[in-house]
Amino acid sequence: MSSAAGKFITFEGIDGAGKSSHVSFITQYLRERGIEVVATREPGGTPLGETLRNIVLNEKMHGDTEALLVFASRREHLAEVIEPALARGEWVVCDRFTDSTYAYQCGGRGLDPSRVAPLEHFVHGHRQPDLTLLFDAPINVARERLDRATPDPDKFEREQGEFFTRVRQVYLERAAQFPQRIVIIDASQTIEMIRERLCDHLKRLLG
Ligand code: TYD
Repeated sequence: MSSAAGKFITFEGIDGAGKSSHVSFITQYLRERGIEVVATREPGGTPLGETLRNIVLNEKMHGDTEALLVFASRREHLAEVIEPALARGEWVVCDRFTDSTYAYQCGGRGLDPSRVAPLEHFVHGHRQPDLTLLFDAPINVARERLDRATPDPDKFEREQGEFFTRVRQVYLERAAQFPQRIVIIDASQTIEMIRERLCDHLKRLLG
C-alpha cells in the first residue's frame, strides 16, 4: 500500500560512476516493502523527453541550448510523470535531475550557474528531491568503467578527463552546499557495501 506522501529520490554522478545499476536495486527494495515506485530518468521519462534526450546526447550544440533542452524535458517530465505520481502517494526514483545540469552544463561546459538558477526556479521552484544519492568515484576509476562498458559512447561519454574533473567538482560542491538533501556514496566500494549504505539512507526516509 502507498504511504500518504510520495518521496522523490534522485541519482547523480559522473558517467561511469555506476549509479544506473543501483536504480533498479532501490526500486526493487522499495517495492518489496509495499511502496508503489515510478522509476524514470532524465533527460527523458516522457515520449517528448526521450526525443529531446536523443537530441541532447547526440547533437552538437551551445551549452545554453543544452540547458534549455534539458529543462524543457524536465518541465514535461514533472507535469506528466513526477508530480502526478507524488500526488498519488507513489515514490519517484529518478536517474539524474537538476544537479546534473549544474554539474554538466555549468561545471562541464562552463555555463554560469546564475543562468541556470532562474530556469530551475521556473521549472520546479516549489519542488526539490527529498533525497539525492551522489555516486562519486575518482575520474580514472569512472573512465575505466565507462570505456569497458560503453562500446558506443554518446557526446558526453566522449568528453575528456578535464571535463569530468569539473563535473565532479561541481557535484561535490553541491553536496557541501545541500548536506541535508545530497549524500555522497563512495562508488569505488564493493556493490555489497554500497547497497548497505543505500539501505541505511532509505530506512531513514521510510521513517
Ligand atoms: P546517463 O544517466 O549517463 O545515461 P546512460 O547511463 O544511459 O548513458 O545520462 C545521460 C547524459 O546526460 C549524461 O552524460 C549527463 C547528461 N545530462 C546533462 O548534461 N544535463 C542534464 O541536466 C541531465 C539530466 C543529463
